[in-house]
Amino acid sequence: MQNVFELTHPLAAHHLSILRATSTSPAQFRTQIHLLSMLLAVRATDDLQLAPVSVETPLTGMTGSKLDQRIAIVPILRAGLGLVEPVLQLLPDAAVWHLGMYRDEATAQPVEYYCKLPEGNAVDVGLVLDPMLATGGSIKAAVVALKRWGVQDIRVLSVIAAKPGIEEFHREFPEVKVFVASIDPVLNSHKFIVPGLGDAGDRMFNTQRD
Ligand code: PRP
Repeated sequence: MQNVFELTHPLAAHHLSILRATSTSPAQFRTQIHLLSMLLAVRATDDLQLAPVSVETPLTGMTGSKLDQRIAIVPILRAGLGLVEPVLQLLPDAAVWHLGMYRDEATAQPVEYYCKLPEGNAVDVGLVLDPMLATGGSIKAAVVALKRWGVQDIRVLSVIAAKPGIEEFHREFPEVKVFVASIDPVLNSHKFIVPGLGDAGDRMFNTQRD
């Protein structure tokens, strides 16, 4: 698939398997999301532009590098929040634009409940964060918002994505790069990713129903 990048690092496979397991506690689940987000962020930013910067080491002066692009990270609430801290650790100067969206359980359509861009905040690169891409509806709505806000270079970071969801998303936005830890093959009749990991938001925030 063009413009789809699946992590191939052994650490990604290792941490993903722990993430998926039903026996994994919410605390451990958050840790796994943190680790996988870092691996995803490294992969999704490997072509960012740099500018030279003077650095004084204890031994000498030298020319080092600093990031030369303005970046926004755009978590889709709620589960996207779990990716914010690790990505901010790597991109501490990034702006954070929150997008509130949940998927209606009956229709599987995204329902937007918070979408407010701070005025006068142009950026070069927008990284959309959501651990799950199932039907692709939520990511599509997020990309529509970012395009409306004038972001040219939009990249999606998702831990697990369903193949049909990526294909559906790319029918509308083939130019948007999607970085995932795993591409899972199918959605079930409730539009849940299989094998997947269940509901990422509920597992992250310990709000599963009994
Ligand atoms: C989940 C997930 C994505 C969306 C994916 O959110 O975190 O945002 O569904 O589904 P889609 O690709 O079919 O749109 P959920 O509705 O569970 O909300 P939450 O993050 O608040 O738990």
